[in-house]
Amino acid sequence: MSNPEPLVTEGVAIIGARAVNCQFVGSFFALDQLPRDRRPQVALAGRSNVGKSSMLNRLVGRKNMAKVSSTPGKTRSLNFFLMNNRYYLVDLPGYGYAKVSKGTKKSWQKLIGDYLESSSQLIGLVLLLDIRREPNPEDQQLMAWLATRKLPTLIAVTKADKVNRGQVNTKVASIENFYGLPAIPFSTVSGIGKNELMGSIEALVNGSKHKTEVPRE
Ligand code: GTP
Ligand code: MG
Repeated sequence: MSNPEPLVTEGVAIIGARAVNCQFVGSFFALDQLPRDRRPQVALAGRSNVGKSSMLNRLVGRKNMAKVSSTPGKTRSLNFFLMNNRYYLVDLPGYGYAKVSKGTKKSWQKLIGDYLESSSQLIGLVLLLDIRREPNPEDQQLMAWLATRKLPTLIAVTKADKVNRGQVNTKVASIENFYGLPAIPFSTVSGIGKNELMGSIEALVNGSKHKTEVPRE
């Protein structure tokens, strides 16, 4: 399968006081194609259409860095974005999208599962949950697995602009209560949560110093 080119391959955004440089590295359909350097990786995971690719675009301040669609199932490969030349954000395909063939679904799930199981450079994960939906069995399965593997997890509650402020607080509190982890409300429309999430991702990366060594190239 060919690797589609992104619309924009590099961008610089100012997040808070920091400049974030983002380079698209590639779309990968097999684990043996993935970058082999020792930079840490942080993956964006969640059901189809929850807003993973939109989140990446918002975090890096570019509209078309990662491909977004209102039709679930847009991202079909592991998409690697190099951040400030230090770590990778990985935009994953979504899970739980019913309207694709069983074979396609199986191959996506296998790609996600194999990546999560086998990547030694994966230091953490952002789990995205849609503010208007209840966590589904697949979200819960992923959380249980993350807990077993002790992989640091940040929860982001997406599409916060779709409900009012009171509902945001109630929903975020109920998710925090359910999972026993802090959750960050996020919206690509209002920009809420962007700085907090970026700060949390960078703290994760900074906390994994033994893996951040950049190889000589
Ligand atoms: P897959 O690649 O299919 O797994 O989906 P995804 O999780 O990458 O979702 P994507 O970013 O493609 O967004 C899906 C739809 O949700 C698009 O129509 C986005 O414009 C919309 N969307 C994403 N984030 C937000 C948000 O914060 N607010 C609103 N209102 N819409 C959003
Ligand atoms: Mg996507």
